[in-house]
Amino acid sequence: MAYYIGIDLGTSAAKLLLMDESGAICNIVAREYPLEFPKPGWSQQDPQHWRRALMTGVPELLAHVDAGKVRGIACAGQMHGLVALDENDQVIRPAILWNDGRTAAQVEYLNGVIGKKRLSGLTGNIAFAGFTAPKLLWMRENEPENFKKIAKIMLPKDYLTYKLTGVHACDYSDASGMLLLDVQHKCWSKEMLDICGIDESLLPRVYESYEPVGTLKEEHAKALGLSNNVKIAAGAGDNAAAAIGTGTVSDGDCNISLGTSGTVFISKDAFGTDGQNALHSFAHANGKYHLMGCMLSAASCNKWWMDEIIGTKDYAAEQKEITEEKLGENHVYFLPYLMGERSPHNDPSARAAFIGMSMDSTREDMTQAVLEGVAFGLRDSLEVARSIGVNPERTKICGGGAKSPLWRKIIANVMNMKVDLIESEEGPGYGAAILAAVGCGVFDSVEEAAKKLVKVTGTEEPDPELVQKYEERYQEFKELYPALKGFFQKKQA
Ligand code: XUL
Repeated sequence: MAYYIGIDLGTSAAKLLLMDESGAICNIVAREYPLEFPKPGWSQQDPQHWRRALMTGVPELLAHVDAGKVRGIACAGQMHGLVALDENDQVIRPAILWNDGRTAAQVEYLNGVIGKKRLSGLTGNIAFAGFTAPKLLWMRENEPENFKKIAKIMLPKDYLTYKLTGVHACDYSDASGMLLLDVQHKCWSKEMLDICGIDESLLPRVYESYEPVGTLKEEHAKALGLSNNVKIAAGAGDNAAAAIGTGTVSDGDCNISLGTSGTVFISKDAFGTDGQNALHSFAHANGKYHLMGCMLSAASCNKWWMDEIIGTKDYAAEQKEITEEKLGENHVYFLPYLMGERSPHNDPSARAAFIGMSMDSTREDMTQAVLEGVAFGLRDSLEVARSIGVNPERTKICGGGAKSPLWRKIIANVMNMKVDLIESEEGPGYGAAILAAVGCGVFDSVEEAAKKLVKVTGTEEPDPELVQKYEERYQEFKELYPALKGFFQKKQA
């Protein structure tokens, strides 16, 4: 029996997943690491944590199998992060992550001076704080010495691939989030490189996600007890990998990820935008494209509320009191903008808020408001897709938040979509393992693999009465951000 390893390089932990050639998940190992918030709205991480997580996690992952039978590895990872390497391939500064909001001025320059229309024409997207190109501009303006030292620009999961293989590689799905790639034509945009003041030689070669980029370096093969014939596939951004891992591969298929971020991912056969670029238009890991809305804080809102504020680790117990009849009746609202917001507001200054409490409001109402606020935020992105006639009637769901039956129910009714639950909520790790298997020739295509391997185990159906109640709540929720926007922006100025 051959094995394939999928690595999900997340924001708070790396998850390593072992899959056998029949698609069965044999083991999962997680390694947590810290996140630095040096200033409000800034978010960075030391890439050495990722390397250590990989090197200590793999032996544990393989503890009970014959490591010699591992044939392929692929990494999926948090997107957009800027990992800058010097001429000796040493990391120059901590990686600036996808949920970092320090680039407000650079985003304003790109969208305002270069212009959204031009950016969209060049890349298929506009600038958002957190994308890689504004970070390069930020570094050029604020850390010129560091900027001058850059010899290679990598994304987080590509840094791991480099460590394993010695090859500087990227894949189209992850490269899409740099605002340097002409997504439709799948090549670096020379104009964007000029705008950012970088030479193409600083960028890695780009591959399709399932293509092998190299084999395991001898030293790592030895250290990990693996054969040096193990192939490493290019891998994918975590959302594209999650879509593979949930079988979201046909035109119009939808996947919702409830991780640190929250995303609505819609697979598309052909490239296209929503006209305003409120949704990202990125390449998919199956060689095609997708539309995606991304919330910066999703399951992380609930984690913050539970861990930091209420002070509990028993999330399920907190949700037990939120019974069926309370759904759609909550008068407390939560704006889920703990790290600013990406889709659709594109506002790094936005912040979270509870609104509407009265003397009879309870802790459960507030917990419920947090879960509902995230669902309303996801609905904001879905509405953009609906406005251009893309209206999926069902969605898969993955990520830590997907474990909660209550949250799944709220999402089904707020979005008015059937929510299909699959065997494992480990979307990105499973998707990466599938990409590794495709790269090793086990399957003819990513579609074939995903369709064969991913199994739906249940469906949460929306209830028309509850959908109607949530429709009214959503219309109220929609009034809150515009009402507070001026306040958020004044506070940040
Ligand atoms: C997507 C995005 C996030 C990260 C989280 O655009 O920024 O989903 O990939 O890991």
